[in-house]
Amino acid sequence: MAVNTLEEKFLGQLPFVYFSEKQFVDGQAKMAAMATDPMLKAGIEKHMQETKQHVVTLENVFLALNHKPEESKCPICMGLLTSAESSMKEAGNDAIRDVSIGGSAMLIENYEIAAYKGLIGQAQAMGRQDVAAMLLQNLQQEQDTFGQLEQSAPMLMHKAASAS
Ligand SMILES: [Fe+2]
Ligand SMILES: [Fe+2]
Repeated sequence: MAVNTLEEKFLGQLPFVYFSEKQFVDGQAKMAAMATDPMLKAGIEKHMQETKQHVVTLENVFLALNHKPEESKCPICMGLLTSAESSMKEAGNDAIRDVSIGGSAMLIENYEIAAYKGLIGQAQAMGRQDVAAMLLQNLQQEQDTFGQLEQSAPMLMHKAASAS
């Protein structure tokens, strides 16, 4: 079915992001369980709680647009989680695994940041400042999380370099 309006486009994309956020809760639980660096582990656990709230925010966005929340299987999300899992499995020691987890988490956050920026822009263009404001809360937490991961990456890499 052809997508002709911005609202149709927005509503077509939202189920992919909703699916992704739900999957990321499980993915973050696995990543936090496998992480050994205390800062990395605590950061992922904290963001997992925020991610649960992102799911609720998206449900509220669906409702604000008079739609029932629905999921569409997102190939980007599945690819990100498959790659996160294989890099955790192939890591031969804890320090390398932590570097992998940090890197995978940064890829996930970058995807979310791009997705929310797109949705926020569309909501604003549709004149739905209320929806844009809801999505902005999620975006800010993704950006904060990305910033923290980026800051801790060199420390994790130094630990991995001295462990090998
Ligand atoms: Fe999120
Ligand atoms: Fe996130």
